[in-house]
Amino acid sequence: MSFKEKLNRKTEEVNQILKSYLPEEKGFSESLIRAMNYSMTAGGKRIRPILLHESFLLFGGEGRLDEPFMAAIEMIHTHSLIHDDLPAIDNDEYRRGKKTTHAAFGEALGVLSGDALLNYAYETALEAVCSRAAEDALRGMNALKILSDKTGIYGMLGGQSVDVMNEKNQGHALSGQELDYIYKNKTAALLEAPLMAGAVLAGASREETALMEQVGRYTGLAFQIQDDILDLISTTEELGKPVHSDEKNQKTTYVTLCGIDGAAAQVQALTEKAAAILDALMQSNCRGTAAGSEKGSFLRELILYMALRKK
Ligand code: IPE
Ligand code: IPE
Ligand code: MG
Ligand code: MG
Ligand code: MG
Repeated sequence: MSFKEKLNRKTEEVNQILKSYLPEEKGFSESLIRAMNYSMTAGGKRIRPILLHESFLLFGGEGRLDEPFMAAIEMIHTHSLIHDDLPAIDNDEYRRGKKTTHAAFGEALGVLSGDALLNYAYETALEAVCSRAAEDALRGMNALKILSDKTGIYGMLGGQSVDVMNEKNQGHALSGQELDYIYKNKTAALLEAPLMAGAVLAGASREETALMEQVGRYTGLAFQIQDDILDLISTTEELGKPVHSDEKNQKTTYVTLCGIDGAAAQVQALTEKAAAILDALMQSNCRGTAAGSEKGSFLRELILYMALRKK
């Protein structure tokens, strides 16, 4: 099976898992739940749940403890997108090939469905943790701590808050250091989280989890720079979201600082760093067996693919 076929199959598997964790559309708050599910089922590459699952497998995870966490990370990510598109932030009308949540349901439900998805992520993961016995429950708590840390002020939300000042900072280009802070937090943190959580759920050591954090850091920085490039050179049809959003909001990006070629070179360099760390982890994990060295090979291909993605 080609990499692309495997990726499509895994994406479909994630979609099935996500579906099983979505709240039922009923009761007085039905419109809120419809708005939550609208964005969750609109599509999306499902990169973060796949990363979580592949990291779980790399460290020998067995059973289905990773599944509620795969759903949780996609809910957190989708919440970040719903709020990112709001008029007060990027003010964008399309996402995942459809009208954004606030455009389809109104601004109030845009705000509330984002909040509700963020909370539902923790409800989903906690439900799993609370129903597990000793070792799994402890691993689950540690994974939850990672998800919450990487989402909060020292993670995605911290990054988004500085990015908003970037938007308002019209005419003043940010420094490379400020931009790195933004990318490390608004984007890399939510790629570090699934790689670390998957590892922790499988019982990886502290050192291994710290290495997965680095893999996520480099992959995440590359992912955001590629997103900036695509914002400039792709089409709305291909991306499923508006192009030239950064220009509209007068943002400093890697592309405005280094040009398209410079930015593309950064994507490659960062991806190579991520792959090198993963190679070392795969080596130490395989214990000389062929089956062992297979573990992590899809994850490695995925990281390389993400750097060259067209959407
Ligand atoms: C978009 O993330 C937001 C960024 C961090 C650049 P994705 O490109 O993973 O969006 P979906 O989930 O596929 O819609
Ligand atoms: C957003 O970065 C990152 C998060 C949503 C946390 P962008 O604003 O560049 O993402 P897109 O391009 O709207 O997906
Ligand atoms: Mg944004
Ligand atoms: Mg945006
Ligand atoms: Mg973007």
